[in-house]
Amino acid sequence: MKINRKICVAPMMDCTDRHERYFLRLLSKKVMLYSEMVATKSAIHGDRKKILGFNKIEKPLALQVGGSDKKELSEVCKIAEGMGYDEININLGCPSKKVQKNKFGACLIKEPDLVAECINEMINCCKIPVTAKTRIGYDEVENFEYLNSFIKKISNAGCKTIILHARKAILKGLTPKENLKIPKLNYPLVYEIKNSNNDLEIIINGGITNSDEIKNHLKNCDGVMIGRAIYQNPYFLADIEDKIFKNKNIPSRSEVAEKLVEYVKEEVKQGTRVNQIMRHTVGLYHGQNGANKWKRFLSDNMMARDSDFQKVNHIMKIAQNNEKANQTAS
Ligand SMILES: Cc1cc2nc3c(=O)[nH]c(=O)nc-3n(C[C@H](O)[C@H](O)[C@H](O)COP(=O)(O)O)c2cc1C
Repeated sequence: MKINRKICVAPMMDCTDRHERYFLRLLSKKVMLYSEMVATKSAIHGDRKKILGFNKIEKPLALQVGGSDKKELSEVCKIAEGMGYDEININLGCPSKKVQKNKFGACLIKEPDLVAECINEMINCCKIPVTAKTRIGYDEVENFEYLNSFIKKISNAGCKTIILHARKAILKGLTPKENLKIPKLNYPLVYEIKNSNNDLEIIINGGITNSDEIKNHLKNCDGVMIGRAIYQNPYFLADIEDKIFKNKNIPSRSEVAEKLVEYVKEEVKQGTRVNQIMRHTVGLYHGQNGANKWKRFLSDNMMARDSDFQKVNHIMKIAQNNEKANQTAS
């Protein structure tokens, strides 16, 4: 079945874990979800259930992997396919020092031949699509010629879907956080790549915050990937369902909270702490009446290690009160 990547939620370390993905699925059935980056060695040697496990409801789901050893990458592809992931995505965009030291992420933009070899090996050992997420350049290099030849190398190796974060990576001197805002966004360069490589699926990423922007990007690219705007305001997905997917059957925030509470109860039985799930919901009432009450309750109760069911049940009262307050206001 062809994967719909019109709207993708970006892979984000410490954010897009399985609980966040479950939560987001309650809001949208259509978006494509990506895991946090998992290093090849962790995927191969680590606690597989903990690191790679997921709930079927999260599908369609991609595993993002970090690495540059083709044997290890191939092994992870086989593991991911065996576990039921729908796609495997190689991280060619993370600029962190640790990642560079291990020779994966954005520093690989400098090594197109190695990347092509890895991708070729990955594609040959699994049937699920192998995709790449990269930046538009590195350090002083940000031009069509370099990026286009990099893209051609990857696509000739068999990767036909490429996610382009529309800013370059500064490999020395900036923290990963600064690397998400200091290099300037350059959407036209991404559009130019799409124009010149019409056979490829190009997904644009970086700084996209509302449905009008999404619609504009979709005129020039095949899909849009969004990270922070969804993490900070998960109900943005409801707007996407409505305006982009034309779905009129959208759950209210309190309906989402209610379903999540059921999930929390099941997960706690398996040893998950309430805060591991609820920390992702801080932004559920972003911009709404009751947002502060919701956030305060979470930080006073859910973030504590001793949170219990009574408190979980109480959160539904806040959700219902917020719903009423917002209905009266609108
Ligand atoms: C907290 C955080 C963690 C991130 N972790 C990853 C990651 O594991 N893999 C990756 O490819 N990009 C990672 N990114 C980058 C995002 O996937 C995305 O490219 C970036 O945030 C730009 O999109 P946005 O402006 O919509 O947030 C991370 C970003 C943030 C904010």
